[in-house]
Order: sequence, then C-alpha cells, then structure tokens
Amino acid sequence: QVAAASGHTVVLVDQSDEILKKSTKGIEESLKRVTKKKFADKPEAGAEFIEKTLKNLTTSTDAVAVVHSTDLVIEAIVENQEIKNELFKRLDKFAPEHTIFASNTSSLQITQLANSTTRQDRFGGLHFFNPVPMMKLVEVIKTPMTSQKTFESLVDFSKAVGKSPVSCKDTPGFIVNRLLVPYMMEAVRLFERGDASKEDIDIAMKLGAGYPMGPFELLDYVGLDTSKYIIDGWHSLEPNNPLFAPSPLLDKLVEEKKLGKKTGEGFYKYK
Ligand code: 3HC
Repeated sequence: QVAAASGHTVVLVDQSDEILKKSTKGIEESLKRVTKKKFADKPEAGAEFIEKTLKNLTTSTDAVAVVHSTDLVIEAIVENQEIKNELFKRLDKFAPEHTIFASNTSSLQITQLANSTTRQDRFGGLHFFNPVPMMKLVEVIKTPMTSQKTFESLVDFSKAVGKSPVSCKDTPGFIVNRLLVPYMMEAVRLFERGDASKEDIDIAMKLGAGYPMGPFELLDYVGLDTSKYIIDGWHSLEPNNPLFAPSPLLDKLVEEKKLGKKTGEGFYKYK
C-alpha cells in the first residue's frame, strides 16, 4: 500500500485469490482512512489519489511468474525459517541479476535467509511496523555480506515510501522488537502471576508511560501467533535467557486459535 501510494509499481503476491481479495479490500479501507486525513478539504484529489494508488497495485498467486520484472522483493510471509528459505531459494533462480531481496522478518536472522540464495550481497532486512501506513519507522538491516550499494538502495527506498529509516546489525529482534517483545512478555507474566489484571496493565502503560496501546492490546494487534513465533525462536537460540522464556498462557491462546484481533479473539474479544 505505502509503496503503491508513493508511485511504485507493486505486485502483491499471496497464496490464494481469496486471501488477495481480502488484502485488497483491507488496502482500500486503509487508503480511505489515509485519504480522509490527507485530503480533508479536497475530496476530488483524494479520489484521484486512491485511483492512482490502486492502479499501481496488481495481485498474483505466482511469485515466480512476476519476479522476472521486479527490482525489489519484500518478503512478509509466515515467520518460519525453512519456509522463507525455500521461497527465497526458488525466487533466486528466476529473479534478474540486479534484483534486491529483502525480508520483513520480525525475528529471524537475515544472514541465514540470505544464505539460501546466491545473492548475499543483494540481500537485506526491511522491517516495517503495524499499522504500516501510520508507523513512520523502517529498520534497515545490513548483514556482513550486504553490499553498501544494496544498503543504500534499501535506505533510499524506505525514504521514497515516506518512512524514516534506522539501521541495525543482524541481531535478534533488531532494535524495536528486541525491546518491545520482552516488555510484552513481562506483561503476560505479570498477569499470569495474578499480580494485576490485563485491563489494569494496559491502562497503566497507556496512562503511566504514554504508550498508545497497552501490551495486551498490542499483542492482540500484532497477532499472538506472530508473537509466539518470535519468542519461541529466540528461546531456542538462548534457552537460559529469562527474557525469552515462553508463556503457558500465550501458548494456550495460540493453540485455541485465539490469535488476536484478526481472529476476533486473543487476550480480548473483538466484534
Ligand atoms: N491504515 C490507515 N490509517 C490508519 C490505520 C491503518 N491501518 N490504523 C489507524 N489509522 C489511522 C486512523 O485513521 C486515525 O487517523 P486520524 O487520526 O486521522 O483519525 C489514526 O490512525 C489513529 O487511529 P485511531 O483513532 O483508530 O486509534 P489510535 O489513536 O489508537 O491509533 C494506532 C491507532 C496508530 C494503531 C496507535 O494505537 C498506535 O500507534 N499503536 C501502537 C502501534 C505499535 O506499537 N506498532 C508497532 C507494533 S510492533 C511491530 O509491528 C513489529 C512486528 O515485527 C511485530
């Protein structure tokens, strides 16, 4: 959405037409929200902006078929090393020489993903934040193999889509998640111990620390499955680090398919 809105030609690829239909609808709704604010007094310019943006955006279920004419691939699939590796390995065979590969992974090592391809110098991390149209930050991740030219291209692209890039080495969680995820897990543990209710913890962090959402609201917003993937991955890397300890409550909710806002229930219920 943000790439299309800033004039880039985008092909959104997913597994089924049904998912793509849902994604397109989500993008249209989000664009309306952005436009309402951006073109408050100019509804015609707003309508034109939406039309232009949607013209820049097509969809496909066949990544291999579209990658041959792509300058930049931004992968944002399930947070699973093997599945990501497999996708990158396949795309690497069909993408042009100059194409840069980037992953939006929240927690996996970019280096390991890059190693599934033959273009380690043209591979980096581009980590966006939910909700992407609103959050200004992008973390640009440089592995020891990422060339300076690739890094600069990723920084330029981030700026071109209207974001403020920061850079970080290829270290677990980069900057934001390395701080945010242990904080959210500590909130779950506080609740699990019965020290405070989830409602009070959320109110406390909003009113006492000025956060726009409390940790349980944010976990539901990000998705409990995504949060579990992140913490489980780090726990397997550092089993003795108490900051990375799994939570029985989070595990139970994920097992019950209560994944947060997207499924209608997580820590809270949504209509
Ligand atoms: N698309 C477009 N606009 C959106 C939007 C979307 N998806 N979501 C919210 N907005 C806009 C609304 O239209 C509204 O605009 P307005 O100010 O003109 O009315 C504005 O954002 C505020 O929205 P709301 O009034 O509905 O609600 P809030 O004031 O609570 O703001 C929020 C919503 C921007 C999501 C805010 O609560 C927030 O900043 N929350 C924290 C988000 C956060 O921490 N994100 C990082 C998560 S970690 C992550 O993503 C990393 C990953 O790897 C796990």
